[in-house]
Amino acid sequence: MLKPLKKAVMPVAGMGTRFLPATKAIAKEMLPVVDRPLIQYAVDEARAAGIEQFCFVTGRGKMAIVEHFDVHFELERMLEERGKAKELAELRAQALPPGSVTTTRQQVPMGLGHAIWAARSFIGDDPFAILLPDDLMMCDVSCTRQLADAYQETGGNVVAIEEVPRDRVNKYGVIDIEKDMGRLVSVKGLVEKPPIDQAPSNLTIIGRYVLMPEVIAHLAKMELGAGGEVQLTDGMAKLLGHQPFHGLRYEGRRFDCGDKVGFLEAQIAFALKRPELAPQVREFLAKYR
Ligand code: UTP
Repeated sequence: MLKPLKKAVMPVAGMGTRFLPATKAIAKEMLPVVDRPLIQYAVDEARAAGIEQFCFVTGRGKMAIVEHFDVHFELERMLEERGKAKELAELRAQALPPGSVTTTRQQVPMGLGHAIWAARSFIGDDPFAILLPDDLMMCDVSCTRQLADAYQETGGNVVAIEEVPRDRVNKYGVIDIEKDMGRLVSVKGLVEKPPIDQAPSNLTIIGRYVLMPEVIAHLAKMELGAGGEVQLTDGMAKLLGHQPFHGLRYEGRRFDCGDKVGFLEAQIAFALKRPELAPQVREFLAKYR
């Protein structure tokens, strides 16, 4: 019997240097796309996949992320008094149930693998999802739900993958394909930010994972990889040959909101999805052709 997938880790301890000075005093994950912060999209996506327990891996200056999911009594009372029922309902829907949010501190941003290792007590012996909130997903079926379904099918580790142009593979974790079955790809190798001419494929890992808890023991060795950081990809590579490991060609689109252009594109794409905003947005966009 497979253990159910109920836990998600969201690493939010990065420095967000590509968004300075915006990220000097506020967390990158609190930057809004249209009218909600990036972290909220990630939490909503995870909830749509049946996730019930959340762990934010935080660092200095990130507490607004935790507060965002609290009940805000004064604000709720004020909305009630002013008859703002729609806003109130939305606010209430967004608060997470008591006891479902845990935070852990990374203290020093030593890389994504280190951030996941910092959540080891939360993870325990359970499978867990990882969502990097700066990868913003636009999918008909929650991307984490797609991974959760693939976990049910394969019984092991699953990472969301997409193809990128060859000349960009050196920015990502890249998979070495064992068998390409279309939607699913079995993986025989993983390499983080390979030189372009040494990349085993152009299938890259995006910020969505379902992993087995055994990865923690490998991350605990604190081996430094690409960029002198503890790389999650290197820890995952140690699972290969011992557990099922698949890439999933997810259905949908990813916006890299850790990057300025990706973030701007996300604003437009998500605004155009909103019927109350789309006509005005189309109209003003026409001015910039
Ligand atoms: P990034 O590679 O985007 O790094 O991290 P960053 O520091 O957030 O941003 P830049 O590159 O300086 O602009 C990807 C994800 O991993 C988390 C980040 O918060 C983000 O969600 N992360 C990264 C950590 O939690 N800890 C780390 O040590 C590194």
